[in-house]
Amino acid sequence: MDRTLTLRRPDDWHLHLRDGAMLRAVLPHSAAHFARAIVMPNLVPPVTTMAAALAYRARILEALPPGADFTPLMTLYLTEDSDPDDIARAHDQGAAVAVKLYPAGATTNSHSGVRDFARIQPVLDRMARIGMPLLVHGEVTDPDIDIFDREAVFIDRVLAPLRARTPGLRVVMEHVTTREAVDYVREGGLDLAATVTTHHLIVNRNAMFAGGIRPHYYCLPVAKREGHRRALLGAATSGHPSFFLGTDSAPHPDAAKIAPCGCAGIFSAPVTLACLAHVFEEAGSLGQLESFASLNGPAFHRLPPNPATITLVRDAAQPHPGTITTGDGPVTVFDPGFPLRWRVAEA
Ligand code: DOR
Ligand code: ZN
Repeated sequence: MDRTLTLRRPDDWHLHLRDGAMLRAVLPHSAAHFARAIVMPNLVPPVTTMAAALAYRARILEALPPGADFTPLMTLYLTEDSDPDDIARAHDQGAAVAVKLYPAGATTNSHSGVRDFARIQPVLDRMARIGMPLLVHGEVTDPDIDIFDREAVFIDRVLAPLRARTPGLRVVMEHVTTREAVDYVREGGLDLAATVTTHHLIVNRNAMFAGGIRPHYYCLPVAKREGHRRALLGAATSGHPSFFLGTDSAPHPDAAKIAPCGCAGIFSAPVTLACLAHVFEEAGSLGQLESFASLNGPAFHRLPPNPATITLVRDAAQPHPGTITTGDGPVTVFDPGFPLRWRVAEA
């Protein structure tokens, strides 16, 4: 059955573009399909100031393929020493749209993140006043908490108290992986939203252990049980305005993933839209893909939806790219475990 689906051009509300050779290799894949992306600041060193965000944005724009229609939306990495004035200035001047909170030690390049949440309160208060969203990696880092429970515990111990003491703060709970997070965000009102990744809609935790250890399905937060995946799928396909796409496409060279202590991150940018069309179709919800990928995110971030459109075509199974070549070696592309029947039509 041939079928097409035309949507407003989507945005990616959580993306890792890296820097240097990796940036040049991965950026064209996002820019081909997405009009805008919120760019994560967890470089080495992290993007902590307005000056660093402006410099990083310039490097991204420089790496764009000629003619690309893509706007990077920059974020600032929150540390205990972040300066509220610098953050407010970056927001005011459009140098950064949001601030990223990594609990120290939660994930890749998070060691400069936050240990003592009291120390960031002045920044949070200022952000609440100016309406600048806080993007949260929602996992506790306490080694006594089981890795599969770290998101749910974070809501109770960190996020709910933080929001209670910062009225008006706009928060995005990023890459939600649990039923608890879905319920919390669904009931959380207009100042709370969540991004959902492509891979967490498709795989549950079994994927990491199917017949052997499979590092290309390892990311943080780690995928949870099937019931949680179903809760995410229900939220993403519901049209509820608080849920939107953030792919968390996070490239690492294969050599860094296939290792005794492999890196967390799933690189999905080249196939994300094909995968999403598949899962929304399987859920009988293709009509909600536009809300999830193209409308709900801009509405939360107080931006207009993109005027241009993109067309997805359903036809014969497409070859899976396998890996892409980068200056840092091959990077494996997320394999959803089903044939890619959808593709993005050439403009
Ligand atoms: O799996 C992940 N990879 N989760 C994160 O939070 C960070 C990301 C990365 O930067 O590789
Ligand atoms: Zn991420």
